[in-house]
Amino acid sequence: MPEMKTLKVALLGCGNVGAQVARILLDDADILASRTGARLELAGIAVRTLDAPRDVELPQHLFTTDAEALVKDADLVIELIGGIEPARSLILSALQNGASVVTGNKALLAQDGPTLYAAADQAGVQLSYEAAVAGAIPIIRPIRDSLAGDRITRVLGIVNGTTNFILDQMDSTGAQFSDALAEAQSLGFAEADPTADVEGHDAASKAAILASLAFHTRFALENVHCQGISEVSAADIAAAKDAGFVIKLLAIAEKIDSADGGGGVSVRVHPTLLPRDHPLGAVRGAFNAVFVEAENAGELMFYGQGAGGAPTASAVMGDLVSAARRLVLGGPGRTETPTSQVDVLGIDAVTTSYYIGLDVADQPGVLARIAQLFAEHGVSIEIMRQSVHNGSAESAELRIVTHRATEAALAATVEAVKGLDVINSVTSVLRVEGV
Ligand code: HSE
Repeated sequence: MPEMKTLKVALLGCGNVGAQVARILLDDADILASRTGARLELAGIAVRTLDAPRDVELPQHLFTTDAEALVKDADLVIELIGGIEPARSLILSALQNGASVVTGNKALLAQDGPTLYAAADQAGVQLSYEAAVAGAIPIIRPIRDSLAGDRITRVLGIVNGTTNFILDQMDSTGAQFSDALAEAQSLGFAEADPTADVEGHDAASKAAILASLAFHTRFALENVHCQGISEVSAADIAAAKDAGFVIKLLAIAEKIDSADGGGGVSVRVHPTLLPRDHPLGAVRGAFNAVFVEAENAGELMFYGQGAGGAPTASAVMGDLVSAARRLVLGGPGRTETPTSQVDVLGIDAVTTSYYIGLDVADQPGVLARIAQLFAEHGVSIEIMRQSVHNGSAESAELRIVTHRATEAALAATVEAVKGLDVINSVTSVLRVEGV
């Protein structure tokens, strides 16, 4: 039997995911060789600090602080440093040296993906990033490859586990946002600085990546309308629950047709009411799921662990084996060149149903006056429910679900309603999907 080729693998970063990738490369070397047709040799692990504590015991001689030198000599580079620099320069240098690159760096892809794809195309090598969206869940390849012969119309994703954990805690225990966040932090789901997760930035990066693949166009982070969950209150959650909904932070990429035959794609992240029996409504704790609607396939859902060392390492290893097989078999790397140029639509072009919570005076004629304002602004009411507020004889809680309306029409309606002397407060305004 001919001797198997050996491919040198450089690992950049040794955090939760990197340490698990190193473990798999060392422990499963024979299995990986049989699946790849080449031996994958872990040539080195670039880190900032040589003696930092690690989750996994790894041979000390593999560690180096000289990432540049490691990259220069590698056939395959795995970038798990995260952030923009030095990750960006190291990836570019690896691609220019002819190495294929596997990365989980959603922030970098969403900010500067086109530069990286162009560098990979030019060098004829592969740039893979299954781990960048929804951890272990295979979603990049299904959207890019399995659905390549279909037309995707909408992608709805729970792509941030921290916020799903927090919202699920609030839903199941009645906790306020700050208490649920503290719980997420104490269990290690949320970072000490939770901004990127709770303000939706992490989900927005993933939304840009999914939208680019689903609609064969390049979307960057600045094309994504982003609203996080820090303003979602226990009262919002309770009211949603009472009305048969659950609140989820959704990343949505959606094709919108206009009456003149044009249209485009809107990409957005915001807290969303979903009917409790929607498949995404059943996604609990820190799990992720992506719901895809395509013209021929219909509805599909992909579910699993969206973060964590071993689950995310699984996605990295899948990409690594695939890139290594290409090196064994030959042929150019996969190109990410967009094949269509759809218009990127702002949030103003989107129509959704809305949920509006109002604290109102409990007097004759109040409902009629509110309904009149909705009618004047062309916003149609689908459901209106009133309950006595806090046992008070003078105020009542009003919950309204509208038919589809534009953001502008809804905002004008809410402003007009606020101006009524019988309104004590507008307690919530949230978008509704799946109705
Ligand atoms: N912080 C992310 C989450 C995982 O909570 O899902 C990494 O993208």
